[in-house]
Amino acid sequence: MGSSYNGVSMLVLLGLVVINCFVVVAYGGDFYQDFDLTWGDRRAKIFNGGKLLSLSLDKVSGSGFQSKKEYLFGRIDMQLKLVAGNSAGTVTAYYLSSQGPTHDEIDFEFLGNLSGDPYILHTNVFTQGKGNREQQFYLWFDPTRNFHTYSIIWKPQHIIFLVDNIPIRVFKNAEAVGVPFPKSQPMRIYSSLWSADDWATRGGLVKTDWTKAPFTAYYRNFNAKPYSTNSVSDGAWQANELDAPARRRLRWVQKYFMIYDYCTDLKRFPQGVPVECKRPRF
Ligand SMILES: *[C@@H]1O[C@H](CO)[C@@H](O)[C@H](O)[C@H]1NC(C)=O
Repeated sequence: MGSSYNGVSMLVLLGLVVINCFVVVAYGGDFYQDFDLTWGDRRAKIFNGGKLLSLSLDKVSGSGFQSKKEYLFGRIDMQLKLVAGNSAGTVTAYYLSSQGPTHDEIDFEFLGNLSGDPYILHTNVFTQGKGNREQQFYLWFDPTRNFHTYSIIWKPQHIIFLVDNIPIRVFKNAEAVGVPFPKSQPMRIYSSLWSADDWATRGGLVKTDWTKAPFTAYYRNFNAKPYSTNSVSDGAWQANELDAPARRRLRWVQKYFMIYDYCTDLKRFPQGVPVECKRPRF
């Protein structure tokens, strides 16, 4: 009895391991195929046969990459492992952006910190060249120890930011009340690692310690899934994207991990917060 039970659980375990391997293989994109290294010379690198990318920063330069393709709506996933140790003053920007003065942009920016002190995940949404929609978060894990998945779901009705598949922010389409929404300019994916120690860590109080350079961040398992309005059969793309558990997780993040929200910053907006803040947000 005991041994057959163990046999079954071993089989189940093996099955899971096999499925896991398969998922990892099926999932990881090829950085050679999907991205160009755009600056920083050899500070930006692709290796492991296209499965891994790294950016680094030293006193002379940072580095960056961009996607070869442009995207108009879709779900974009990337796993990042951020600069470890003393990363104060460093900024790892990972974002989608279109071109030109009236560009749209969807931003993740990771602001480094002293060893053991928390990173800040800074988010923003630009529409028609105008941003000023920051929300900032602490993370519920150390983003330098392991890879974690950072995703954008971009659809005509909303933009959702996710961390390990947990929604942290929703920017709804509020065109009905006159707020432009990114819906016609295709965007590329960009990332860069650079130093901004005049503002990044504790508002600029803590500077980059160049004796710790080079600083390195890693990327893997890029995946972009286009959104097509006629994919009716795909339940995940339905209008009411966030089910009750997802909304609960979003509220949990916003309650315990959000450290700045432009929508509640009355000092900054003495004339009243932006109009999209006055509507139900998710
Ligand atoms: C760095 O750590 C300090 C002290 O815990 C904290 O106030 C700050 O928000 C952290 N993050 C950044 C990016 O400054």
